[in-house]
Amino acid sequence: MTLKIGVMASGSGSNFQSILDAITSGELDAEVVMVLSNNSRAGALERARRANLSWRHLSSATHPDPVDLDRAIRDTMRDGGAEIICLAGYMKKIGDRTLAAFPGRILNIHPALLPKHGGPGCYGIHVHEKVLAAGDTMTGATVHIIDNQYDQGRILDQTTVPVEPNDTPETLQQRVLKQEHVLYPRVLRRIVSGTIRLTP
Ligand code: GRF
Repeated sequence: MTLKIGVMASGSGSNFQSILDAITSGELDAEVVMVLSNNSRAGALERARRANLSWRHLSSATHPDPVDLDRAIRDTMRDGGAEIICLAGYMKKIGDRTLAAFPGRILNIHPALLPKHGGPGCYGIHVHEKVLAAGDTMTGATVHIIDNQYDQGRILDQTTVPVEPNDTPETLQQRVLKQEHVLYPRVLRRIVSGTIRLTP
């Protein structure tokens, strides 16, 4: 059965693109039924328009009351028919109503080997700065389930990336991102095949 995916992204959406590419090439039996962004100028929305997908901009600009916004996100995903939600560089916290409507079915990708280098403040380039400051020789990416704590839900899969002696946060970010593009579709394939089971 084709997996119906809702995507939430704030930025360029290259991870979202990797999911779309896996679908288009026939590697992943899934359909992106809705793309949401809190950023009306997100590259992710541009990618959604180019691929002729349903998309919405939902943010504090469209819904100043956080409870209204949470409801709108939940309803948009539900009405779109999403069975799971993939966060792909989504920079906002998911509200309680949306979490309750998709228990254990909201996934996130984080550019480090959780539980290391997660939590508040650990996003974007800061993650890679922390990896280098810690002197880690190995980093990577993690796909995990979202709960109401930052970066703490069940880990579904990880990929490792060696840190090289002359790495800068930027070079590391680029190499990790390349592996993220392999990891996210791989996790989704395993969900479709039943190798990874999502339980609330
Ligand atoms: C990725 O590094 C992802 O791990 C993190 O945000 C970044 C999003 O990049 N959560 P993109 O928008 O998918 O290119």
